[in-house]
Amino acid sequence: FPILNFRFWAQFNARNCKEVKDKYGQTENGLYYLTTATGVVYQTFCDMTTAGGGWTLEVGNWANRKTFGTVEAATDDDFKNPGYYDIEAEDMSVWHVPNNTPVNHWNLAAIMRYHTDRHFLHLYGGNLYQLFHSYPVEYNVGAHLSDNGPSIPIVYDLGDKESTKNVYGPYSGGENEGGFISFRAINHERAATAICSGVKPKGGNVEHYCIGGCGFFPEANPLQCGDFTGFAWNGYGTHVGFSASKQMLESAVLLFYC
Ligand code: G3P
Ligand code: CA
Repeated sequence: FPILNFRFWAQFNARNCKEVKDKYGQTENGLYYLTTATGVVYQTFCDMTTAGGGWTLEVGNWANRKTFGTVEAATDDDFKNPGYYDIEAEDMSVWHVPNNTPVNHWNLAAIMRYHTDRHFLHLYGGNLYQLFHSYPVEYNVGAHLSDNGPSIPIVYDLGDKESTKNVYGPYSGGENEGGFISFRAINHERAATAICSGVKPKGGNVEHYCIGGCGFFPEANPLQCGDFTGFAWNGYGTHVGFSASKQMLESAVLLFYC
């Protein structure tokens, strides 16, 4: 194992990081073992500092419904743990962390961090698995804007609306608004994406600032299919037209529940 400091091996009888903090008094960011309702033990990263702490890492990057990967590899490989389905959460936090950053540097190395504070997950079944059950990320489920899933206001922990504009391409900034996290955004061609991190779509070219699109993307098929959809539309990392910044392209999106 490459990273030996900053690591917690204690196993508590806790289903999420909030319990690790509240019931067992743990206040250090780091790796902890959690136990699902059905007794599956898994290890993940707890953020014990943002907005009072107790945030459980559930997903690194975006892929499919399988759980796989290891938490140490969350910034260079797809990672999703059983808590994605098991935890009943109220809010989400998101960190954009440069690829291959070691766990103990995630917080400092992040290019954007924010959280929700309105307990919105209560309205959508308590986790993303349930939310996406109501808003399936599939081709032809509706039209852009009118059939998009919810957009939830965020509180920035690192960055702001202006810096959010700078990670996506200039044309993207022309059709979205910073200060939100949005779900199941649909594009002009009726293709669906999973999450628009930091923004609310105001148009139909969501493939350039919303992630997790797959299935059928009619426009320029298959160029828009993949975790980062059409983020390199006008060149890789150029930050020209609809292309996101290189920093954004080369970072992982880490999703936490609390
Ligand atoms: O998503 C952008 C696309 O719909 C139009 O781009 O390259 O034809 O200007 P382009
Ligand atoms: Ca388009």
